Amino acid sequence: MAVKHYLQFRDFTRDDYAYLFERTRVIKERFERYEPYHPLADRTLAMIFEKSSTRTRLSFEAGMHQLGGSAIYLNTRDTQLGRGEPVEDAAEVISRMVDIVMIRTFEQDIIERFASHSRVPVINGLTNEYHPCQILADIYTYIEARGPIQGKTVAWIGDSNNMCNTWLQAAEILDFNVHVSTPPGYEVEPERAGLYGTDHYEAFADPMDACRGADLVTTDVWTSMGFEAENAVRQKAFADWQVDAEMMAVAKPDALFMHCLPAHRGEEVAAEVIDGPQSVVWEEAANRLHVQKALMEYLLPGERRDGTA
Ligand code: CP
Ligand code: NVA
Repeated sequence: MAVKHYLQFRDFTRDDYAYLFERTRVIKERFERYEPYHPLADRTLAMIFEKSSTRTRLSFEAGMHQLGGSAIYLNTRDTQLGRGEPVEDAAEVISRMVDIVMIRTFEQDIIERFASHSRVPVINGLTNEYHPCQILADIYTYIEARGPIQGKTVAWIGDSNNMCNTWLQAAEILDFNVHVSTPPGYEVEPERAGLYGTDHYEAFADPMDACRGADLVTTDVWTSMGFEAENAVRQKAFADWQVDAEMMAVAKPDALFMHCLPAHRGEEVAAEVIDGPQSVVWEEAANRLHVQKALMEYLLPGERRDGTA
């Protein structure tokens, strides 16, 4: 049987997501009731980080532990990956020793190459192009707070980065709309975003227009990891793309605000928005733990369960 990986949002179907969101609900309820649940006893997760992380490392490591397994943290600095060992060789070796792998790296091509030489499922923990685990958590958070996302409008304000690309893929699969507003020169590149069509997103020159009538307003840092050399230029280019109270005021009255974190108050978001009543950023971060537990359970062969376990 072919190994199932989670390298970008479009790797799963709408039915897969319906299943994952339901499993997330069950797994989260158990966690909140302090009920032990160890379907991954004796399983090992290798986590490979080529970039910094707080939430991704913690949620995968704690999640694997809570499912009865263990997690091993590897980074470029301390492994042979940082000394030029081919990613294909690393995949051959690592995937003979563990049951599942999570990677945070630079180009998507790196994780694709790793996965093509891996005997076990590989999860994208963020690449330059995509951040599917975060969007999984964001959409779960939306559904938990407001119900189905189908037909809703998400306003993406700022950089057309890994988060934006993943929202756009999710919109096609789960049938909602994304209003994107980026500064000139930072527009969405459909091919890089891995889009099949353009039916589910619309570009707006003015971020206020993108926010008008939105059910969810979301943004991210102006300078993503790996693009630090562009920081000074980006600070200037993005100055008018700060999500502030004025933008939230033209969205729907019950609109939510999300940010994957870490955030820079006073840059991409005003403090009054991220710390305000419409913000669900802490729920969003916490849900990383629960969606990724459902994801690991799903990807490990023989672990899929139907109905409530
Ligand atoms: N949102 C997110 O992925 O956070 P970390 O960079 O801390 O993992
Ligand atoms: N777009 C950001 C997300 C961080 C979680 C980055 O890639 O740095």
